[in-house]
Amino acid sequence: MKKSKVYDCSIIELNQHHSDRKGNLSVVENGLTVPFDVKRTYYLYDVPGGESRGGHAHRNLSQLIVAASGSFTVTLDDGKVKRTVLLNRPYQGLHVVPGIWRTLDDFSSGAVCLVLASEGYTEADYIRHYDQFIIEKHGTPAR
Ligand code: TYD
Repeated sequence: MKKSKVYDCSIIELNQHHSDRKGNLSVVENGLTVPFDVKRTYYLYDVPGGESRGGHAHRNLSQLIVAASGSFTVTLDDGKVKRTVLLNRPYQGLHVVPGIWRTLDDFSSGAVCLVLASEGYTEADYIRHYDQFIIEKHGTPAR
């Protein structure tokens, strides 16, 4: 398990192409915008108010999480420190490194959570139990 910390996760500002009266466009490009190659893209939508998503860690996967529409919070946890980030701008992406427990909450109505991931989908990369996460991360069970 990676010795990553919540402070290794950061907001990446995406470039914005403005067109007067015609709206905006932001770009994510491998090697330029994100420090990994995007192999998979998925998005969460129609999340009912009060629902929570995530609630897991990835062993090797990196992600860029973007509030493509609306807003939600991402709580990052490295087993020692927790940090909550509000995502509410389509031109900002949260880079989440491997080995971080994440929970997504407080979805606004109509929110779309766009996720760009460094790997394809494989269940073996998930840690879905917090106790297991703490053991893999720090070698001891949670107190
Ligand atoms: P999951 O990652 O658990 O969602 P979240 O953490 O956002 O609550 O995925 C939910 C379901 O979708 C689960 O059954 C696995 C499936 N899934 C895929 O088949 N492919 C994918 O790329 C992803 C992200 C999920």
